[in-house]
Amino acid sequence: MELAGAITIFLGIYLSCLLVISTWRKHSRYKNLPPGPTPLPLIGNFLQIKMGDTLKSLERLRDQYGPVFTVYFGSKPIVVLCGHEAVKEALVDQAEEFSGRGAMPTVEKNFQGHGVVFANGERWRQLRRFSLTVLRNFGMGKRSIEERIREEAQYLLEAFRNTKAEPFDPTYFLSRAVSNVICSIVFGNRFDYEDKEFLSLLQMMNESFREISTPWSQFYDMYSSFLKYFPGPHTKIYHILEDMRKFIAKRVKQNQATLDSSSPRDFIDCFLIQMEKEKKNPSSEFNTTNLVLTTLNLFFAGTETVSSTLRYGFLFLMKYPEVEEKVHREIDHVIGRHRVPASEDRMKMPYTDAVIHEIQRLTDIVPLGVPHTVIRDTQFRGYTLPKGTNVFPLLGSVLRDTKYFSSPEEFNPGHFLDENGRFKKNEAFVPFSSGRRVCLGEGLARMELFLFLTTILQRFALQPLVAPKDIDVSPRMSGFGNVPPTYQLCLVPR
Ligand code: HEM
Repeated sequence: MELAGAITIFLGIYLSCLLVISTWRKHSRYKNLPPGPTPLPLIGNFLQIKMGDTLKSLERLRDQYGPVFTVYFGSKPIVVLCGHEAVKEALVDQAEEFSGRGAMPTVEKNFQGHGVVFANGERWRQLRRFSLTVLRNFGMGKRSIEERIREEAQYLLEAFRNTKAEPFDPTYFLSRAVSNVICSIVFGNRFDYEDKEFLSLLQMMNESFREISTPWSQFYDMYSSFLKYFPGPHTKIYHILEDMRKFIAKRVKQNQATLDSSSPRDFIDCFLIQMEKEKKNPSSEFNTTNLVLTTLNLFFAGTETVSSTLRYGFLFLMKYPEVEEKVHREIDHVIGRHRVPASEDRMKMPYTDAVIHEIQRLTDIVPLGVPHTVIRDTQFRGYTLPKGTNVFPLLGSVLRDTKYFSSPEEFNPGHFLDENGRFKKNEAFVPFSSGRRVCLGEGLARMELFLFLTTILQRFALQPLVAPKDIDVSPRMSGFGNVPPTYQLCLVPR
């Protein structure tokens, strides 16, 4: 009897809350958001979103509510954009309004709105403009960085040769090579592959990419305002990023002690010089916090994305050996077996170019996109998004948009080839996102993917340890990022 009474009281309170919330929503500034499933008090739309499978859960809601809808993470509304048209209309056609960076609770405590990736407003504008200029001055998109990648690819070949065609896990082979390219820009040097500190930084990065993609992290993103007061797996990410921050802060101190303003050696030097130039400007964002955290952003974003894509790429090529075979043939035909590949070869290699695009499309490294926010009250498709509303542009839904890809779930380089075998652009190819926040390292990443992949395949054939049909290409984890499965392979000299 007592239990029945308690349940009745609980239900009564709960239903009253529901009523209050629905009345509040009708009259609040959120009254004209896109439609979506009714949120429950406190838990929001928790019941509709399967942790660990967020993209699929959100795509299911699209079937019910259309390509633009609202879900509640706890009590926070998130406007979700699905498919190429909706994402383009927001990020490109209304670029300015949608250019804000949305909340990412899992890393909030580490960055607190600093560093180019998480900054907003004037801070973001200054850091983005400066980072792009320095990356270009250090050769992004130019010959000098191409030389650096080609040189690094030779170190990588040497390391691969030493595996003597025995089975190995390629994870840290690839991340050491890829990371050394961005390290040359931000720290002014590459690291020896045996360097213990370097390897430990790469392990931290790999681990934090995995950690921010776990079901727990997605759960934390929903209920951080409550969970942040308690211990839990989210504190692990905080500590890993904090260790990386300390490493960079140490490098900044070393640069400061040896700085020669007339000859900057790297990104850190350039930033220090800019800090000095602007020290009397009260609205300057050039300070040590932004220096350390922007460097961390570049180091992280410049390593984990490209190396995970290459690691996934190997797996696709082993699953579809006929595709690898055609890439081998194109390399032999255009570059030959001896000359080191150059980025201008890409124009003559439509098949390889298409394969790299298809690898990126299915790797779908950031399936939910990095969260955005609207920087002012914004009218979108007849709805009103109040300033500060979080927006998820689901890049994964664009990369698999059935209107733009004939067989979206299949690995098919034909998605990027015309009937004459020429490379064909596809406007829904958006792994780097689009609009004002488009990936700052796109040019560098594209050059690295082409040069590393062709250099490796010029010299080696990939050999899986299981039959191609048994290779499972589903991600090991899918959350903020799609984490590629762990596997071993043999590299057999050609
Ligand atoms: C395969 C490689 C890569 C992929 C798929 C990728 C993808 C992305 C995506 C989806 C975003 C979010 C854009 C948005 O907010 O809508 C982003 C932002 C960013 N990426 Fe990349 N990225 C890659 C490589 C790199 C590299 C090599 C660098 C280093 C130079 C880099 C630096 C950044 C930075 C600094 C941002 C933040 C831009 C901003 O907020 O203004 N990325 N990237």
